[in-house]
Amino acid sequence: MALWGGRFTKEQDSFFKKFNSSLKIDFILIKEDIKGSIAWSKILLDSKIITIEEQKKLETSLTLILEEIKDNPKKILFSNSEDIHSWVEKKLIYMLGKVGKKIHTGRSRNDQVATDLRLWCKIQIKKIQKSLIIFKKSLIHLSEKYFSHIMPGYTHLQRAQPILFSHWCLAYFEMIKRDFERLNDVFKRINISPLGSGALSGTGWKINREKLARFMKFSKASNNSLDSVSDRDYVIELLSIASIGMMHLSRFSEDLIFFNSGECNFIELSDTITSGSSLMPQKKNPDALELIRGKTGRVYGDLINILVIFKGLPLSYNKDMQEDKEGLFNSLNIWKNCLKMSSIVLSNLKLNKKKCIKSAESGYSNSTDLADYLVRKGVSFRDSHEITGKIVLYAIKKKKSLSDIKLKCLQKFCSIIENNVYKSIKLKNCLKKKESKGGTSPIQVFSEIKDAKKYLLKLQFKNKV
Ligand code: ARG
Repeated sequence: MALWGGRFTKEQDSFFKKFNSSLKIDFILIKEDIKGSIAWSKILLDSKIITIEEQKKLETSLTLILEEIKDNPKKILFSNSEDIHSWVEKKLIYMLGKVGKKIHTGRSRNDQVATDLRLWCKIQIKKIQKSLIIFKKSLIHLSEKYFSHIMPGYTHLQRAQPILFSHWCLAYFEMIKRDFERLNDVFKRINISPLGSGALSGTGWKINREKLARFMKFSKASNNSLDSVSDRDYVIELLSIASIGMMHLSRFSEDLIFFNSGECNFIELSDTITSGSSLMPQKKNPDALELIRGKTGRVYGDLINILVIFKGLPLSYNKDMQEDKEGLFNSLNIWKNCLKMSSIVLSNLKLNKKKCIKSAESGYSNSTDLADYLVRKGVSFRDSHEITGKIVLYAIKKKKSLSDIKLKCLQKFCSIIENNVYKSIKLKNCLKKKESKGGTSPIQVFSEIKDAKKYLLKLQFKNKV
């Protein structure tokens, strides 16, 4: 039975009924719906719309409903209710009769769903932030474990300049830190209660909405009732933050897939997160990372989906908005799982130190340092770039590294080159020079790790990880 029998003379078409129902998606909002309903019962009492006995009955029954389905919320799906809000109300009516029928006084499913979704998002943000902290910890752990290991850094996927492996880890630490902060930022906008906005124009009852907001631990009540029931900006924001977060994980995965390739062999991924080929016995495929890269597309899809749903929707509530949840639920779940997978990948990763150094040494990644050497000797940078370019071309032809070229030969390109050039272009010395803030010198990276650990410790304390 629907909640609005009076106006209708015909039963709903059975296909329409299924088509219209969101229960199989929104049943996961059960806890939030009950929390919001308890708060609503309290404010109905506060405004003397119901008696204290009635409020107690409502609260006890709502708690019982939650208790009943706690272990298996999927039980809800046996019902033919249109959505989770109708399901809870029908349950209350079944349990309490007349008193149950009072819960919806002054409330609409429009402000109710907006409230439930905000409550749910707040919890999810905290959960994702915990996963982000764990991933950040794995990055720091790895950067300490392999501190001082040198590898080539790339631009255009060409070996560019040597870097510390830890420097690479810290680059991802920075990205994840920004994802975390973006979530903090949107949390402030989500933490506002729309309840009491009614269907669109506000509630017809004298209700203290600020007090109601506090019952649900929201920071305040929303300003405009029309906006409150129509606003899903926070869903769009969350999906956009998730898309950026997944983009980071996808780049991280791509880097590791490349480092793990037969061509690089910089890292070895554990057997526990890779799989073999049904045909080729030698294969060990980086499935975990490829899946993270692949799943990123689904999150982008959900972001585009919600943007398209809302483009051109008139104020205020429209049923199109019911389509807001599936993508959000899926995407946040994907993000959380991919963060967990990334942490597991890191915890088992082994670095092939020799291969990394060899590759950094053989890719002319110290050419900029040779150019800098000449500049230190008084040559202008543009000229030194030209001279170094010629030396590199010569080295490529002769299949030599820069440090293999004899001094006499180097002096033919530029007479002021001295024996100390070899020291200058040693990889370790190239790294050492990158000592200004953010550079890859061991001293700089060490202090970055120290700062990152301090920052993490504070976060862990605040977020109880
Ligand atoms: N199931 C609906 C949703 O998720 C709840 C709001 C329904 N409101 C309405 N006026 N039909 O959006």
